[in-house]
Amino acid sequence: MQTIDYRDMPHRRMGNSGLWVSEVGLGLWKWGDPTYDGSRVGDEDGFRILDHALELGVTHWDTANSYNMGSGNSERLLGRYFRSRGSRARGQVVLATKVRNPVRDEREMEREFTPNERGGSRAYILRAVEDCLQRLQTDTIDVLYHHSPALLPDGSYEAPLDEMWDAFDTLVTQGKVRYLAVSNRTLAQLKDDRSALASVAANPARRIIGVQNWYNLLQRPKVSALDDSPTFDDERAFLDYLHVSGVGLIPYVPLAVGLLTGRYLKGNYDTSGRLYEEGWRDEFLTDRNLEIVEDLLAFAEGKGCTLSQLAIAWLLAQDTVCSVIAGVTKMAHLEDNAGAPAVALEAEELDRLDRLVRAPV
Ligand SMILES: NC(=O)c1ccc[n+]([C@@H]2O[C@H](COP(=O)([O-])OP(=O)(O)OC[C@H]3O[C@@H](n4cnc5c(N)ncnc54)[C@H](OP(=O)(O)O)[C@@H]3O)[C@@H](O)[C@H]2O)c1
Repeated sequence: MQTIDYRDMPHRRMGNSGLWVSEVGLGLWKWGDPTYDGSRVGDEDGFRILDHALELGVTHWDTANSYNMGSGNSERLLGRYFRSRGSRARGQVVLATKVRNPVRDEREMEREFTPNERGGSRAYILRAVEDCLQRLQTDTIDVLYHHSPALLPDGSYEAPLDEMWDAFDTLVTQGKVRYLAVSNRTLAQLKDDRSALASVAANPARRIIGVQNWYNLLQRPKVSALDDSPTFDDERAFLDYLHVSGVGLIPYVPLAVGLLTGRYLKGNYDTSGRLYEEGWRDEFLTDRNLEIVEDLLAFAEGKGCTLSQLAIAWLLAQDTVCSVIAGVTKMAHLEDNAGAPAVALEAEELDRLDRLVRAPV
C-alpha cells in the first residue's frame, strides 16, 4: 500500500482515485448542538479537537446532512469552524458528507417531510446539496455519499438509479462536488450504482471511489450490509469485489461504538458512554463479544498499544480500507486513535487475530 505522510500521518488513496485521505479520520456523527439535538460535542470543545486534528494530520472529516436527529447540526458546526479558521483550514481537509435523509431547520425538531425532501430523486439530490453547502459554509464538498439506498417497501428503488446518478454527475460538472461515494450498500446494490453512474456520466473517468459500510474486528460480516445473518464468506466476497473494482472501503462504527476501547468489560461498563446510553447494549454487550474483548485487550497489551489502536490498525491492514473514521467525542480519543498507524501488524499477528475473533466462545 502506497502512502504519503502529512505531519506524520500516512495518507492513502481512496480507491483508485487521486484523492488522498488520512489513515485515521474523524467521525463527526455526535457533533452538533448538545443543548437540543442529542449530540455530545459543541463548538467550544469541537473547535479545539478540530484544530488539534489538523496538527496531527487527521485531515479526513466525515459528516452527514442528517446527523443528530435530522438537525443538520454536525454540518452547521463544521461551517462555523471553517468560517472562523478561514480557507487555509478548509483547504487542508477532505470534507465528506452524505445526503439521502431529510433535514430540519435549525432548532426545529418536529416536522413531516414530503416524499421529495428525502431519497434519491434529482429534485431531492440537487436541493439537498445546496443546503449542505450552505450549512458547511463552503463552495464544494470533497466526497459526497449517497447515505443509504432509498427503497420502497417492495424493495424497488424510490427513484430510478440513472436519474439519481445523473443528478450526482451534474453536481460534479458544476464543481459543487469533487468525488462520489456510497454507503450502506450490499454487493448487488453497489454493482447497480456503479453501472447506473457509468451509463450517465458525462466523463468516463467519473466513478464511485468509496463505499462506507459498518465494519469492525468484532462484527466483520456486517460489512456486506446484508440483513440476514451475513457470514465471513460474505465479508470476503465484498472485499474481493472492492479490490478488483478499485473502490475504497471506509469502515464506520470501527470501534464498535466504544466496545473496542476497553471501556466495557464483563461486569464493569462505562455507563456514561454512548454504547451504554444510546440503547446499543443488547447488540454489543453479548457474552461472546465481552470474552473476545478480554483476549483483544491482552493482545494489545502484548503489542504495547491501546485496544482502540489495535482495532484501527487491524482495519488499516485490510485490503481496500483507506481511512478509519472513528467517532471522537473527547480530545483524548483523537490523540489515542491518531497513534494507530504506528501499530504494525505482522502476518502471523493478523492470523492470530483472525482465529481469535472467529473462535466460538
Ligand atoms: N454511513 C453511515 O450510515 C454511518 C453510520 C454510523 C456512523 N457513521 C460514521 O462513522 C463514524 C464512526 O462511527 P461511530 O462514531 O458511531 O462509532 P465508533 O467510531 O465505533 O465509536 C465511537 C465512540 O467510541 C468512543 N471512542 C472513540 N475513540 C475512543 C478512544 N480512543 N478511547 C475511548 N473511547 C473512544 C466514543 O464513545 P463516547 O462518545 O461514548 O465516549 C465515541 O463516540 C461516525 O462518527 C460517522 O461519521 C456512518
